[in-house]
Amino acid sequence: MAIPNRKVVITAYGPPSTSLQIVTDNISPPPKDHVQVKILYAGFAGADINMRLGVYPLQSAPPFTPGYCFSGRVSVNGPGSSKFKPGTLVTALTKYDSDAEYINIPEKYLVAIPDGVDPKVAAALPVDWATAYGMVSRAAKVSPGQRVFIHGISGAVGQGIMYLSLLQGATVYGTAAERNHAALKEAGAHPYLYTNKDWIAAMKDLGGVHAVFDALGFESFDESYSILTPNERSVVVAYGNNLNNLTGAKRRNPWIPIAKLMFKNLYFWSNKGAVFYFITRDQKTYEPELQQLLNMTRDGIITPPIKAVWEFDDIKEAHEAWGKGSGMGSPVIRIAHDA
Ligand SMILES: NC(=O)c1ccc[n+]([C@@H]2O[C@H](COP(=O)([O-])OP(=O)(O)OC[C@H]3O[C@@H](n4cnc5c(N)ncnc54)[C@H](OP(=O)(O)O)[C@@H]3O)[C@@H](O)[C@H]2O)c1
Repeated sequence: MAIPNRKVVITAYGPPSTSLQIVTDNISPPPKDHVQVKILYAGFAGADINMRLGVYPLQSAPPFTPGYCFSGRVSVNGPGSSKFKPGTLVTALTKYDSDAEYINIPEKYLVAIPDGVDPKVAAALPVDWATAYGMVSRAAKVSPGQRVFIHGISGAVGQGIMYLSLLQGATVYGTAAERNHAALKEAGAHPYLYTNKDWIAAMKDLGGVHAVFDALGFESFDESYSILTPNERSVVVAYGNNLNNLTGAKRRNPWIPIAKLMFKNLYFWSNKGAVFYFITRDQKTYEPELQQLLNMTRDGIITPPIKAVWEFDDIKEAHEAWGKGSGMGSPVIRIAHDA
């Protein structure tokens, strides 16, 4: 039997005040090989912002429900699904539909949350930390003694890259607002401001860095490439085009800067390279790396910081506040209190 399901709907591209609504719809029982999950927390990612603005690559047209990942409890198993008992805490990457009370999702994408892991922290893992993990371990292969530079070291993905790079034994540099510098230094990083370009000369003076993580795009890709060390293998790991959203600048086409960055791979004699990194739940790394992050959280090896917990009904305020405000790490949306 279908049950009522409150959910966020993006009805049009634009500012939160005119584009976001919370509506009550019905959700059907889970179909074959699916599981119905009662969501506790939805992750809140830069992708949600980009989708609301209509600038996320190959996105759905409105109306759609945003929410790129969640944590919650299994509610009902559909025919053919039996891996998780009702009540089991699970998490998953969804791309859409996590800003809702319930979701029907193929069982194969669900990962159990180990005992002792806070569901609100688990909601930060499938996007922010899984992206960071893949970039640090596979795209850049960060290793002991290397220097890495992170644009937005205080952000959700930035914090993941920072902690995972420090665990690898790298020295970490990056940009953040001044209000976050003391905490970043305390954590072991070397922060610079993004409001000036002092970091470019500083990184060149060090001989360049082995990896730059860049979700800003546009002219930032050139600046990132310029601080790579020419002496050893080095790489720009691009993973977004966020500069305009953060600065409020006019919308620009991101594809030409991406193509220009990838073109630099033709300088095969230079030691320097570039990749554009992205995650999907159909990559073979999805389940093992999410499981690994959950285990590292359970074992206290990582402690993903939560920047803010927004209530479901405050979704417009959450969108307004994205990329601003004090604190560091991942914002999450509380959809329901755990019974
Ligand atoms: N490719 C993928 O699969 C993938 C996956 C996840 C995310 N992403 C992308 O990653 C990006 C970052 O998302 P997020 O959730 O980590 O964002 P976030 O948590 O809001 O972080 C934004 C960061 O940008 C900094 N910042 C603010 N204004 C800035 C400016 N004018 N110039 C430079 N930096 C500025 C902030 O610093 P302060 O807070 O210190 O001011 C903060 O560190 C998004 O573009 C998202 O789409 C891509």
